[in-house]
This record gives sequence, C-alpha cells and structure tokens, in this order.
Amino acid sequence: MFIRHCSLFATLVLTLSVASVAPAAPQLPALVPQPAHLAIPEAASAFTLTADTAIVVVDSAFTREAEFAAKELRLVTGLPLPVVQEGEGGIRFERSTEALPREGYTLTVSETAVTIAASDPAGAFYGYQTVRQLLPPQVYAKRLQEGIVWEMPACTIADAPRLAWRGLMVDDVRHFIGGDGIRQMIDVMAAHKMNTLHWHLTDDQGWRIEIRKYPELITKGAIRDNSAKPRDRWRPDGKPYGPYFYTQAEIRAIVAYAAERHITIVPEIEMPGHALALLSAFPELSCTGGPFKPRWLWGVEPDILCAGNDAVFPFMKDILDEVMLLFPSKFIHLGGDEAPKDRWNVCEKCQKRIQEKGLRNSHHLQTWFIQQFADYLEANDRHLIGWDEILEGGLPSGAAVMSWRGMKGGIAAAKMGHPVVMAPNDFCYLDYGQGIENDPYEYNIANVPLRKVYTMNPTDGIPEMMHRYIIGVQGNLWSEYIWDAADQQWKAWPRAAAIAEIGWTPQDKRQWKTFAEAMERDYQRLKVLGINAAPADLTP
Ligand code: ACM
Ligand code: ZN
Repeated sequence: MFIRHCSLFATLVLTLSVASVAPAAPQLPALVPQPAHLAIPEAASAFTLTADTAIVVVDSAFTREAEFAAKELRLVTGLPLPVVQEGEGGIRFERSTEALPREGYTLTVSETAVTIAASDPAGAFYGYQTVRQLLPPQVYAKRLQEGIVWEMPACTIADAPRLAWRGLMVDDVRHFIGGDGIRQMIDVMAAHKMNTLHWHLTDDQGWRIEIRKYPELITKGAIRDNSAKPRDRWRPDGKPYGPYFYTQAEIRAIVAYAAERHITIVPEIEMPGHALALLSAFPELSCTGGPFKPRWLWGVEPDILCAGNDAVFPFMKDILDEVMLLFPSKFIHLGGDEAPKDRWNVCEKCQKRIQEKGLRNSHHLQTWFIQQFADYLEANDRHLIGWDEILEGGLPSGAAVMSWRGMKGGIAAAKMGHPVVMAPNDFCYLDYGQGIENDPYEYNIANVPLRKVYTMNPTDGIPEMMHRYIIGVQGNLWSEYIWDAADQQWKAWPRAAAIAEIGWTPQDKRQWKTFAEAMERDYQRLKVLGINAAPADLTP
C-alpha cells in the first residue's frame, strides 16, 4: 500500500513527531478534509505567487490539471502564471516517483517551489485543491481580487482518499434546482475532494431528463398541477409546477463541467417505483392502465411499473441506452426503493410472471425485475446501483447497494461481497433538520446536526476483511423541502464537508476538534464561493 512504500510518508512521521514535542508547535493549516499525513517545518516559511511564478507541467499527463489551475489562479490573482514544460521553482505538476493510490498525491511547499506529485490526473487535481486551501480564501472568487498577498505556508503532505466514492445526491424532481445551482454545487464538492454527484432525475413528481425516443416523458411528465404547500405537506399550493427538465445538450455540458473537476455524475432513473411521472405519459406500462398525473403530494405512490408487462423491459432499456450515451459513469442508479407491492399482488400479469419464473412472491418479483436491468447494464460494461430495498427478495447479482435505512442493508450486502455506498438516513440525510433554532428551512422529521454527521463511520459493524466492499459514503439532499439552490446549499453546507472528510480522511486521523477548527476557515471559503451555508456549533 501507499503508506508502506512511501518514503516521504516515513520522513513525515519523523518530522511530525519532532514538531509535536517542540514547545510552540506551528499552527496547522485549515484543511477540509484533513489530509492523511501532514508535516510543518519548525521554522515557518511560505511560498508566494508573484509575477515570476510559472506553472510547470513536468509530466504532460497532468497538462489539463495544470491548465485548469492556471486559468482559475490567473482570474483571481491577475498574475500571468504561464504554463511551461521546463524550469525551476514555481507550481510543479510531477509524476510521483512511487506508485500512489488512485487520487493520491504528495505536496511539498517550500519558499522556492510548490510540488504536486501524483500517479493519476485525479491525484494532481486534488494536490491543486489542497494548494487552493493553503492560499487565502479569496482564491475561491470568480473574479479578480486586489490587494491580496497570495501566500501559502510551507508544509509537506502525503494524501490519498479512504474511500473511492465521496458523494452527494441532489434531487432535481421534487423541486428543480437547474444548471447554475448544480454547477455551483460541483465547484464546492470539488473544493472538498468529493468525486461523485448522484443526480436524482426521475420520480413520481416529475421526469427531468430529455429522452429523444419518448418526448412524452417531458411533455406529460415534467409538469405537475401543484406542489405541496410550503410547511403543509397535505395541501396543494394551486400553482402548476413546470415544465422543468434538462435537455440532452444541457446534461452533456454539466457532465463535462463535472468531469473537468474530476466528478462523476451518476444518474438515477427510478424503477419499478417512484415512476408516476413516467406512467403519466405511458399508463399502459402500469398494472392498472391508469390514467395518471404526476404526483404533487410528497410520499410513496402505489402505482408502479408492471413487472408482468413485457413491453416495460425494452422501453426502459431504450431509456437506459440514451442515459448511457449521456453519462460515462460506470454506475447507473436504478432506484428500487419504496415500491409498494399492492398492485403487483393483485395484477394478473404480475402474478403470471411470478408463476412462470417460479418466484416466491412480489419481493422476489422485484429482484427478478431489477436483475433484468442489472444484466443489461453489465452487458454494456456498466454496473447497477440501487437503494437497499433491492436486497429484499435476494440481491440481484452484480448490483451495488446504497444503504439508506440505516447501515443494516449495507452491512448485509458487504457480507455477501457486493459493493456498498453508505448513506444511512440517521447520519447522511442532509435534508433533515440540523438543530438550528427557528431554521426557516427546517424539515422536522429528524435532527442531524454537523457534529452527529461527523461521528459516522461507514465501516462500523463490518468485519475488517470486508471493509473493501464499502466503496463510499454519501450525503443525500431530497428536495421536498428544498425550493432552490440557496435552500439546497443551506442544507448541504457545512454538513457535506463532514461527509467529505468521512470519505477522505483515515478514520484514525479524524478528530472533531481539528475538523471544527478547520471549518472556521472553511466558512470563509464557502462565503467567497457564494454558498448559503448554515451556521453550525463548532465547539471543540
Ligand atoms: C429513499 O430515501 N427513499 C431512498
Ligand atoms: Zn402488473
């Protein structure tokens, strides 16, 4: 592993222990997430960006990351920062002499040079993200900042993520956030080394992704008659909502924007439940034949896709074909949650399917249904991920599980050798309240303050030999009580920063006190980024 073979790491441990016995330990830079290994020289010094600083791409594999950094830094600093292939000093993008883990990097800041070394472009990008955090928070602005000394403290860092999937889910269905809000979220995620945006695009209340073959999904599925009245989930507000959706061109642009920031977008196309917007356009794919309209009420809808209707499978595969063309993600999320079996239990076609396939009951029918799509995705070199309900009739082969009803489902799936992303609602549902008095955005189903989120450990309760199946951690932003990007940001930050640190920092290096202190500075970054972050108790 990284740690064993990394001589820089060995040097660091030594430096760190020397530094920790010194009487006046230098102040730690406020990094979020905390790096795996950090050392600060006893004699403080700094690197300052000047008119003479160049960005040196020592290894051309990192040209895109170097150009990206140069573009951002030029904009805020007004310095020329030319990207060059050779030369001493400057901000250097090098290939690591040792093989680092995926997304890992080392960073050395001295008075004369800033050296980022990595084994893959993502690592180079994260090295740059750390550089940005070492600079004054104004570096996060999107226009020229005058009168700032662009200085960063000397330090040595060896860093790599604990987990491969450091995610946030945004729900663009219950309320539509739109491209600008998504891009802003991507910016902040990247700044915190998060790499997966799970995009919830279809549900009972709306269909938000253009599918060329079936335009009715938009004409009939992207608009609903009402929304639930704010603070009153049972009464309609009387205003049509929509049509709101993303064209394929908009989606391509957002996917490319995310990719530039090393973020993968995992789309979610819900099935067999949470599909009423689809059924409003194609009622013949339900058990009863409809008619239907997109739901305006929140909650769980009994009408779902009919598992006995043969037409459902080619139809959903047509949709997935277009989805796979838009999203290069290896994982495609197919939902699978909250699919009541009321209709299937009395539907002749569904019951016939159960008999013909020798299935035990409707839960096993759901497993069979999901398996059709797991196989289809595998045949296309993709993998299915679904909510933990996909375990209920036996886990389809090849499927990854996103554990939301606590960690139980994830633990069970890991024990069966399936990949798991932990997103337990009692720690990771960022739409829940955060313990703020008179919070205008409060959703009182539960209270999950920052400090509670931080205590979550995604491998709790899992035997060590199975930790490798826990591929990630994710915060979820359901949008029943999120109206727009500003609300979404209020819910997300700072709690998503805790999720980022859970996913990145080794468990034994995580400390609330260090995180809370770093968050004081991180608030300044969030502010410069224009993020409507919520206050949080940062008492050590
Ligand atoms: C979920 O919250 N229904 C996945
Ligand atoms: Zn049916």
